[in-house]
Amino acid sequence: EKGIRIAIDGPAAAGKSTIAKLAAETLGYTYIDTGAMYRAITYKAIRENINIGQAEDLAELLNRTEIRLVPSLSGQAVLLDGEDVSEDIRTREVTSSVSEVASHRQVREAMVERQQEMVKNGSVVMDGRDIGTQVIPDAELKIFMSASVEERAKRRQLENEKRGIPSSIEVLQQEIELRDKMDSEREVSPLKKAEDAIYIDTTRMTIEQAAGEIIRLARERI
Ligand code: C5P
Repeated sequence: EKGIRIAIDGPAAAGKSTIAKLAAETLGYTYIDTGAMYRAITYKAIRENINIGQAEDLAELLNRTEIRLVPSLSGQAVLLDGEDVSEDIRTREVTSSVSEVASHRQVREAMVERQQEMVKNGSVVMDGRDIGTQVIPDAELKIFMSASVEERAKRRQLENEKRGIPSSIEVLQQEIELRDKMDSEREVSPLKKAEDAIYIDTTRMTIEQAAGEIIRLARERI
């Protein structure tokens, strides 16, 4: 029989993807990073000089774009029309434009459709901003994960350091706050805790503790 669907939402840099990846691995489930999909189309739009304020142009672009998430050594690789863009979609340029791209209704509708197709066989952990509210409203387990903004900025700084990118914690905090504001205040499916989602504050938790909590909750439902 097929396994359950786990929806994880929350603000930027809350540790969602690291924790979701570990939980998925332990459960033997597929992990799906929906943020990477919005990042991939943003990256392509920048590369093709498409105005990210134009919903129709972006929808047309998305229509002729294949985005695949495939297992890799580092967890998950993002293939944009067959090209590995896993690193390219994490630049500051993409990060600072992605929320505007993701604010357009036409873009979201097309993405949600693709994402729903990806979860129909169950046994998935999917993370994003609207998974529990829009993509899988009937998910067997919904988590809303957050952490204090100071902690999130600190974690992002550490992550950048590991990739060899020095960054200021104050600037990171401002960027995170701005992205959260845009994602929470947009008109179409804003970032919001689903009523039936379980809130997990990871500020004082390790990755293993948070993943362990999700695994425990999942096993109650399998
Ligand atoms: O998860 P990540 O920080 O990589 O997501 C990048 C951006 O993509 C978010 O800030 C948000 O604007 C958008 N996003 C979204 N809906 C999702 C996942 C990501 O709007 N389900």
